[in-house]
Amino acid sequence: MKYNIKGVKRLEGIVEISGSKNASLPILAGSILNGGVTKIYNLPDIRDVNTTLEILEILGCSISKKRNKVIIDSSKMNKSEIPENLMRELRSSVILAGAIIGRFKKAVFSYPGGCEIGARPIDLHINNFKKIGINIDENAGYIVCNCDKIKSTEIQLDFPSVGATENLILASVLSDAEIIIKNAAMEPEIIDLQNFLNKMGAKISGAGGSCIKIVGVSRLKEISYTIMPDRIETGTFLSMVAATSGELILNNTNYNNISPVLDKLEESGCNIKREKNKISIVSKKRLKNLDIKTLPYPGFPTDMQSIFLSMLTTAKGTSIIVENIFENRYKCVPELNRMGAKIRIEGNTAIIKGVKRLIGTSVKATDLRGGIALVLAGLVANGNTILENVEYIERGYEKLETKLINIGASIYKER
Ligand code: EPZ
Repeated sequence: MKYNIKGVKRLEGIVEISGSKNASLPILAGSILNGGVTKIYNLPDIRDVNTTLEILEILGCSISKKRNKVIIDSSKMNKSEIPENLMRELRSSVILAGAIIGRFKKAVFSYPGGCEIGARPIDLHINNFKKIGINIDENAGYIVCNCDKIKSTEIQLDFPSVGATENLILASVLSDAEIIIKNAAMEPEIIDLQNFLNKMGAKISGAGGSCIKIVGVSRLKEISYTIMPDRIETGTFLSMVAATSGELILNNTNYNNISPVLDKLEESGCNIKREKNKISIVSKKRLKNLDIKTLPYPGFPTDMQSIFLSMLTTAKGTSIIVENIFENRYKCVPELNRMGAKIRIEGNTAIIKGVKRLIGTSVKATDLRGGIALVLAGLVANGNTILENVEYIERGYEKLETKLINIGASIYKER
């Protein structure tokens, strides 16, 4: 499927932010730990969430979903092997492995394989699973995990990996062990996972900091839970308005967990108002250039890198972006240059020479955030942009066309 986007459009109005994709996936995984019913609200209706629900159903859970609410009954869950084809479709389903081990003390899954933005190894997951007492056999691309009991230990992560931190929490929360994770990832989605599991009766502390403690418990109870707002969707809409000199009110969102992005938008000349559950932005003139370095939280988020790259193609002066997290996250650059951008890549650094206007043409999405970066470019380009492979974008953005049309964009889907 393709998007047909007509520029130049100024965005103005109000948008409702959806629930967080990156909080939903580990929380859906954690929902199997109570062996009963879990109700989840504010779940974004996006491809990655629906793929995860499909895997849970294949593993024997019963799922009933109505738009942004899902009821998961894992009482009859009887399988512990994640289907290979779905592991490949959604590499972050490796998060399910930790939860399956947490529940059944065994799991089988295949190497998730790389994706468009990098090799995406899972060595930090595997090596630290071993440290907490999980036996791992690897053969023919399959990873077979067995565990008599989770062992109390102190983990020091080589890198503050989000997925490895979440997987270790999910694998150890049902145990009689005490686990300390040092150099843990500090992303807000891990706080949401901690809040979700503690509401079930877990004893986890420290999420949001670099040292997390899990005191295992014997069972977890049935609960309902509301997913936190999506901070990257928030940053995406803010960047689109910044680039189109528009003004927007963003509802159902939280300004606290996106401050590096807000600070940079203010530095580029935008006016930002921070209120409870709401952010307002006004962008009156051409943006100023910026220097950006992506870092683990609380640094500038790598997921906002492609979006800022696109936003800065029409800023004044020359901007510099350094991508420190993923090794191949500049794949949208050739497509942006086809639209008249002047971006040069040197190693992990992008040098962006601002131009007055982009020109609409046909381009291809190659990954989720690179794809939405091209949507942003289409909004500021003269003429029509035809963007192919929108399936990548549907993985992480709920009702994108509707939300954009409601604030003044001209975008529609075509075959
Ligand atoms: C999560 O991915 C997010 N995905 C990513 O969002 C996000 O970009 C990333 O965290 C960093 O914030 C979900 O939450 C579903 P990592 P994850 O483990 O857990 C290396 C999006 O667009 N690494 O923190 O896979 C890895 O290669 C997605 O929404 C190892 O070397 O990220 C990468 O260079 C994209 N070995 C770095 O660490 C490992 O075992 C960060 O990875 C694990 C990771």
